Amino acid sequence: MSSWVNENCVSFLHLFCIKVVKTGRVPQHIAFIMDGNRRYAKKHKVVCGVGHHRGFNKLSETLKWCLDLGIPEVTVYAFSIENFKRSEQEVKELMDLAREKFRSLLNEIEQINEWGVRLHIAGRLSLLPKDLQATVSRVMLETRHNNKLRLNIAYAYTARDEISRAASQLVKGVKENELSVDDIDADLISQTLELGEPDLLVRTSGEVRLSDFMLWQISKRTVLYFTEVLWPEFSIWNLLAAILHFQRHAPEIEDDPPIVQRQQDFLEKIETKRWQDLEKLVGC
Ligand code: FPP
Ligand code: MG
Repeated sequence: MSSWVNENCVSFLHLFCIKVVKTGRVPQHIAFIMDGNRRYAKKHKVVCGVGHHRGFNKLSETLKWCLDLGIPEVTVYAFSIENFKRSEQEVKELMDLAREKFRSLLNEIEQINEWGVRLHIAGRLSLLPKDLQATVSRVMLETRHNNKLRLNIAYAYTARDEISRAASQLVKGVKENELSVDDIDADLISQTLELGEPDLLVRTSGEVRLSDFMLWQISKRTVLYFTEVLWPEFSIWNLLAAILHFQRHAPEIEDDPPIVQRQQDFLEKIETKRWQDLEKLVGC
């Protein structure tokens, strides 16, 4: 069994219910604010690190459910830039957990490729310890050809930081004459951001804030779903309830906006540069 995709969490009843839900429209991109790990730890009288480990296990179960539902893109908020302000010990535990899980993913790469899961770690990677930067870069490079499910892990991420990084890239594009000021429109900004627009955002643990997550992307068409359940206790029934909520509230499907050649060239150039930067980081 892969530690990233938990195969043992789907019964026949689940498969039947998944089939029923799939007769309606299924979101093509779900984002999760995985909140409540520490309250879970407190409730179950275990240390906070155990809460985060159980949070990771829940992520791997959720991935399996999403694969069975045929959802091609999942984004999770795993570590915000604000989280660096937590105690030194908790930050270290979270970094160690990430190290352990990304390394085990590289050891299980054949299984991951079989599942067709492509990983993207979105955030300001330069804030991470050097060895972790190299590991997550390898993870992205080694899964880049998979196309069944794209898993975006927002790590050292905030939406305002993501928007600032996109703004810097656009200014650089104008300075280097790849773009004119008039080329900068809302669609180009959307495409310059690291993360795309989710159809459904789920936040667990009863908090009803966005906490600087995907602010630009969810401002237009995303359906929001807040649930009281703590992330490590999130079940397939909670996920199916969120999807039913989406089916009741989803807006009409819209065509992708047109894009002009110069904008296309700019986007291709920043994408190529991103892969080159990752290759350099692997060598660190
Ligand atoms: C929020 O709960 C959760 C986090 C800050 C960490 C989430 C991380 C994981 C689920 C593991 C992911 C690991 C990898 C390798 C991707 P909280 O700590 O804010 O809990 P609280 O709201 O009860 O205080
Ligand atoms: Mg929290």
